[in-house]
Formats: sequence, C-alpha cells, structure tokens
Amino acid sequence: MRHFWWRLLIFLVAASVPFYWLYLAAIAALGPDPGKVLVDNLGEGALVFLLCSLAMTPLQRLSGWAGWISFRRQLGLWAFAYAVLHLSAYLYFLLGLDFSSFGAELVERPYITVGAVALMGLLALAATSTRWSMRKLGRRWKQLHRLIYPMLLIVLLHMLWVVRADAGRWVLYASIAALLLLVRLPTVAHRLAGFRTRWGRRA
Ligand code: HEM
Repeated sequence: MRHFWWRLLIFLVAASVPFYWLYLAAIAALGPDPGKVLVDNLGEGALVFLLCSLAMTPLQRLSGWAGWISFRRQLGLWAFAYAVLHLSAYLYFLLGLDFSSFGAELVERPYITVGAVALMGLLALAATSTRWSMRKLGRRWKQLHRLIYPMLLIVLLHMLWVVRADAGRWVLYASIAALLLLVRLPTVAHRLAGFRTRWGRRA
C-alpha cells in the first residue's frame, strides 16, 4: 500500500479524537452540556475532513507530489464516519433515542432536513468510493462525485443555521471552502500548474 505510514497516521488521529472527546466528557471537562459539545465537535470534525479531502487535488497540482491524491478517499470516508457519529450523538444525547421526535424534527426544523440531505449525499459518495464502483460507473462516477461541491455548500448552510449569532468559525470554513472551489475553476487550475512548472525550472 502506497504511503502506508501517512495513512496509518491519519487513521490513528481520526480514530482516536472521538475517544478523546468521550474521555473529556467522562471527566466532566466538556462543560455543563457535554452531549451538545460532542454533537458540535463531531459535526465540525466532519466538515474539517470534508475540506481536507477537497484540498488534496489543489495541493497535488501545486506541489506536483501525486501522494496527496492517495489520501483523498481516506479523508472523505472519515468525513462520512464523523457525520454518522454526529447523527448518532444527536440521536443519543439530544433526543434520548426518541426516533419519533427525530421524524418530527426532520419535518419541522429546516437545518435538520438540510443536514439529513448532506448525510445522504455523503452516503452515496462513500458507498461508490470503491475501485469496483469506479469501474462499474465509468464516466458517470466522476459526474456523481461532483456531488461533493453541492454537499459542501449544504453542510455550510446547515452549520450557518446553527451558529447564526457566533459566525466567526463559519466565516473561516466558508472562506476555505470558497478558496478550494475557486482553485478548481479551469483557468485557476491551469495557472496553478503553470506556476509549479515555472517554480520547478527556477529551483
Ligand atoms: C441527519 C443528519 C444531521 C443531523 C440530524 C444533524 C444535527 C445537528 C445538530 C442538532 C446540530 C446543532 C447541535 C447544537 O449545537 O445544538 C448540528 C450542528 C452541526 N452539524 Fe449537523 N446534523 C446532520 C448532518 C450533518 C453533516 C452531514 C455534517 C457535516 C458533514 C454536519 C455538520 C455540522 C456542523 C459543522 C455543525 C455546527 C457545529 C458547531 O456549532 O460547532 N451535520 N447538527
């Protein structure tokens, strides 16, 4: 497996962080409402992994190191895993596993509806992230995986709904997302590749 140690490091960090948060909750270090903090942290973690996954292609274009691409799928799958944990923590800590009130929240609270749409989108991407799906879907695979961009916007909308008054962190994530979407525009991507070639010649 290529870049085994880097992949292992990503795995260890991503897998241990939720346990660390649980530990903090257990020793009462997450404040008066640890369940809510866990839900928030897991949601934010999912967004961070999503952004990291989207940063891999521009980093590869800028640096010329193909290794970045080999982490893209792993980071995307962690985004999905954190989103599932985020939903599970919400169901467990905030709703006390009352699934009928989840049904009501889905209908009555638009930010929950939007979150569910984003989760369904991430599920479709995670389920078709295998080489087998790539072969089977052919050109349609790329089209399907472009869903990641609307999903990112939907997640940002979901977050904005929650943090409304305290939008500092939201502005930071939205700016990073805007930058990552901007560098994917063909003219910008082309310039990035040209910049690397000129830089390579000088070095
Ligand atoms: C059925 C799906 C989902 C449900 C029910 C849900 C539920 C929630 C709830 C209840 C909150 C606010 C908790 C609070 O502070 O009171 C929240 C916040 C958030 N969610 Fe979700 N969510 C879902 C999907 C997602 C997905 C797919 C992502 C990202 C990939 C995500 C990212 C976030 C973020 C970034 C926040 C803000 C956290 C913060 O304030 O720091 N959510 N979500």
